[in-house]
Amino acid sequence: MPHSALPAGPGLIATFDFVRNPFRFLDACARRYGDWFTVRVPGVSPFVFTSDPAAVREVFLGDPDALHAGEANRPLGAFMGERSSLFLDGAEHLRQRRLLLPAFHGERMASHADAMRTAADNAIASWPTGRQFAIHPQMRAITFETIIRTVFGFADDESGTELRALMKKLFALYSSRLGTLLSLPAMRIDAGPWSPWGRAVRLTRQIDSILYAEFARRRKEGLEGRADVLSMLLAARYEDGQPLPDNVIRDEMYTLMLAGHETTAATMAWIINRLLTNPDVMERARAEVFSILRDQQLDSSHVGKLKYVEAVINETMRLDPVIPNFGRTLKRPLKIAGGDLPAGVTIAPCIYLVHRRPELWPNPNQFNPNRFLESRPSPYTFLPFGGGARRCLGAAFATYQMKIVIAEILSRVELKPVDGYVARATRRGIAFAPSEGLPVIATGAAVS
Ligand code: HEM
Repeated sequence: MPHSALPAGPGLIATFDFVRNPFRFLDACARRYGDWFTVRVPGVSPFVFTSDPAAVREVFLGDPDALHAGEANRPLGAFMGERSSLFLDGAEHLRQRRLLLPAFHGERMASHADAMRTAADNAIASWPTGRQFAIHPQMRAITFETIIRTVFGFADDESGTELRALMKKLFALYSSRLGTLLSLPAMRIDAGPWSPWGRAVRLTRQIDSILYAEFARRRKEGLEGRADVLSMLLAARYEDGQPLPDNVIRDEMYTLMLAGHETTAATMAWIINRLLTNPDVMERARAEVFSILRDQQLDSSHVGKLKYVEAVINETMRLDPVIPNFGRTLKRPLKIAGGDLPAGVTIAPCIYLVHRRPELWPNPNQFNPNRFLESRPSPYTFLPFGGGARRCLGAAFATYQMKIVIAEILSRVELKPVDGYVARATRRGIAFAPSEGLPVIATGAAVS
């Protein structure tokens, strides 16, 4: 980056395309400006995008006190409260992240396999045969239910039913156009129950009262034998022996729902889109699933064996990353990959563009899961979950769930594409999903 001023970038009108068609916008910027460009949005500090793997490496390995991810993430935090690890930085972030990490270790995932499979089975059983339907909302239903059960640990009882209904309303508001506007603090005006922020405030109040009552109930009744993330957080202690305050646990629970369900659902929708448009890959993946299951019900013992399904997932996340970039706000001037950046700007490593560099990924636009069978990419060239001290906490959880849900779909139902449909990326909450909810047709039971 041979400059002292910020790199050139698109004007305001061209920047609107980032909302309308983000992947097209990023491709156009890369063609015109190369590895570095600046995106300016009024009222927000400039975003310096980079697709240079050397810069990605320096950002991941850089000083977390100088590169603030929490500050860059804060606009996402409208309803979530500001005490969650997503919005913290430096020592405070590390202290809290340490308490969350054990709940998301790979080996803990086996205890969630049944909940993940059951959520998938219930959705699949509701799909019509021979008639077009949108599959992305179905993926959202699966990931939402999985988080309610495995992260919140709520059952189908009265408070569980109420929590589901309120959370669905809150996240529908968050994913709507109005909800996107609420990321701007100036739009957060409570003008009564019919104003968007007023609705959000009332919904969160109701959700909070259910959550706080549940925290108290579980503490009283004991946490023994519970595998959900909430119970682990209730039992967790900081190094000085102190428990997490209730309002911190509350913020983390909202954050895990926010960060975990739209992202995984959108990624699964893209995987289905790639399978439908690559029938050979679909058949090979289905053959792998049948050869591993051999008429048994899918359980945790099968998940590690789904190597080709995992390669399909990775190749989809390479080409269709639902979070196309992430950010770190500079707290002091820094030299990154040879270029000087001033304090106050946000450097935005661009996952989407790094994943399409031809010198890293030969024939970059070709969908070829074999790439992931042949070699293991470096964390600076394949980064769908970000990286460094801020790498996605739910990466193992999401991958585990996607393997289960995709395998279950392949083993249970034949899906066909809808004539003339071409997917375009469209914003859904914090993620980009295929347009129109990805219409598909189920034609009947899958056959081996
Ligand atoms: C396919 C699904 C998912 C994708 C593509 C994804 C992607 C990401 C990305 C790009 C980041 C930012 C990383 C960075 O700044 O370096 C992130 C952070 C995070 N993700 Fe995910 N995510 C997914 C699923 C999940 C799930 C299932 C959960 C939890 C249930 C989760 C929880 C989090 C949290 C808590 C953070 C913040 C970590 C921190 O700042 O320390 N994510 N994710």
